[in-house]
Amino acid sequence: MAEIELRAEEFTLFRKYIYEKVGISLSDQKSTLVKGRLNKRLNQLNLTSFRAYYDYLVNDTSGDELALFVSAISTNVTSFFRESAQWKWLESYLPALVASKRDKKIRIWSAGCSSGEEPYTILMFLQHHLHDFDSWDIKILATDISTKVLSHAIKGHYDAKNVEPLSKEIVHRSFDKIRTEDGISYQIAPHLREKVLFRKYNLVTDPFFIKNRFDMIFCRNVMIYFDDVTRHELIGRFTTLLPKGAPLFLGSSESLTTHRETLKLLGSSIYQRL
Ligand SMILES: C[S@@+](CC[C@H](N)C(=O)[O-])C[C@H]1O[C@@H](n2cnc3c(N)ncnc32)[C@H](O)[C@@H]1O
Repeated sequence: MAEIELRAEEFTLFRKYIYEKVGISLSDQKSTLVKGRLNKRLNQLNLTSFRAYYDYLVNDTSGDELALFVSAISTNVTSFFRESAQWKWLESYLPALVASKRDKKIRIWSAGCSSGEEPYTILMFLQHHLHDFDSWDIKILATDISTKVLSHAIKGHYDAKNVEPLSKEIVHRSFDKIRTEDGISYQIAPHLREKVLFRKYNLVTDPFFIKNRFDMIFCRNVMIYFDDVTRHELIGRFTTLLPKGAPLFLGSSESLTTHRETLKLLGSSIYQRL
């Protein structure tokens, strides 16, 4: 099929819309990327121009097409126990957290959770390190803009290749093994799945309904495409949800140059609420 051209004025429409809706600022150089990545989608929808696709995108009130667009130009890549230095740090932080929690309640937000590896890793980690894990009241709010990745996350069903790097003990405790005609795959055990509340949530434009405080927030590898203004606002909102001393985890390639009065860098892109 012939490639559909993306005209400069069409690209400008997408750029404006995507910035307003998700805080992603597309530079001029991204025009080729948008054209290349979205051509297949236009064909699937039987659309013959990017202008027609733009109309389709802005009229989709479900937000699913927007999430698809974002997935096409960015990445949902994730993995269990990503950013190993942060898990090591968390090991040393855990005793202080445990000591401060008389009510045995832990609340965590995984913001931009993709297909669920991040929130489930948090639970695997806690199950591994808390000897009385079952007596804790642990809830994780896991949000993402994309319904596609969220439906994968809710099922908690993963290919063997994603699970194999984990220790045998963790796999045994945290997954049910599933044998199918295609081989073996793994599903997160129900007692862990029930501790995660997955919700569709756009970090940039959805109303800020969350009022609960969190013992920690993970927002890793999500803000890489956001511009400074969007990032600044979002970090400001995170700080209002963290009590003094609580950590905020960003991706290893992300660092903050703002909010120095409220967040202190502890290393490995871990920031502590002051
Ligand atoms: C690269 S993944 C990171 C997953 C996980 N946090 C990790 O570090 O492994 C980035 C995720 O952020 C989500 N995302 C991007 N923009 C978003 C927005 N404005 N609101 C909510 N989620 C967003 C994407 O859908 C994607 O699943």
